[in-house]
Amino acid sequence: MDSAKRQMHKVTGSAWDVTAQVYERDLERDIGMLRRGEISLQAPELGYLNNLGSWCKRAVHLQCAGGTDTLSLWKLGAAEVVGVDISAQMIAVAELKSMALQAPARWHCCDVIDTPHELDGAADLVYTGKGALPWMMDIEAWASVVARLLRPGGRLYVYEGHPLDWVWDMEASTYQLSPHTGGYFSEQVAQDRGWPMTSDPIREHADRDRLHVHERQWTLGQIMNSLVAAGLRLARFEEHPDLFWNQFPNLPADLASRLPHTFSLLMHMP
Ligand SMILES: C[S@@+](CC[C@H](N)C(=O)[O-])C[C@H]1O[C@@H](n2cnc3c(N)ncnc32)[C@H](O)[C@@H]1O
Repeated sequence: MDSAKRQMHKVTGSAWDVTAQVYERDLERDIGMLRRGEISLQAPELGYLNNLGSWCKRAVHLQCAGGTDTLSLWKLGAAEVVGVDISAQMIAVAELKSMALQAPARWHCCDVIDTPHELDGAADLVYTGKGALPWMMDIEAWASVVARLLRPGGRLYVYEGHPLDWVWDMEASTYQLSPHTGGYFSEQVAQDRGWPMTSDPIREHADRDRLHVHERQWTLGQIMNSLVAAGLRLARFEEHPDLFWNQFPNLPADLASRLPHTFSLLMHMP
């Protein structure tokens, strides 16, 4: 990946590092939830992540944020979980959770693109999504990381926001094209589009004007083709009407449910 893209990842990571305070506030709530055996994974994900105990010795969660989803994979049966995130504060929050739960978890603070090679070829499951791919400036570099982490026969499961949502005006009360984010096929990199820039820790930060995030949308074709080119094979692809965050607060539920807002992508390494 070229140095300009690396630099954009670094800048974006610094903003997420500030937003980690939001995740820190939920620390005790999330520990309590996991301790009770409850998990944070959402309904469409569960069909793809069942029976982990029978096949998943190691799950690697790319862009794990505060680690609650990562530790949910352990609760679902993964023998060991590994979380990777560029934000040191997010990783610190994740570490506090796994220590409190005495979970078999390891955490790495780095750009996804620099995921340590010691993890290569040993993941039964690579899991990512729910606001992960748009922060990637080079989808092929990302796909090659997924490919090197998976053991032969290992699975990739992505549950991510549907790229079609990129085109809609997030404030509108009907489906209306956003004047800011261009079209579905746009290669445009948007700066400071919404969350996490609207989070309290960023809005109240002394150096707020120096904090920025860079994001872009990848089409379904670009995502799948980058993974195929890296050596993975498609097992199942599904689009869902479910939203994983309150992205369109003014859109009536009956309209929301008529179009896809998330997708599931299951691929495997031959
Ligand atoms: C919306 S959060 C993902 C949340 C995650 N799905 C969860 O709930 O567990 C996005 C995360 O991506 C991380 N991130 C952004 N760019 C990254 C990069 N280049 N490498 C690694 N992590 C990155 C951020 O630090 C943040 O924790």
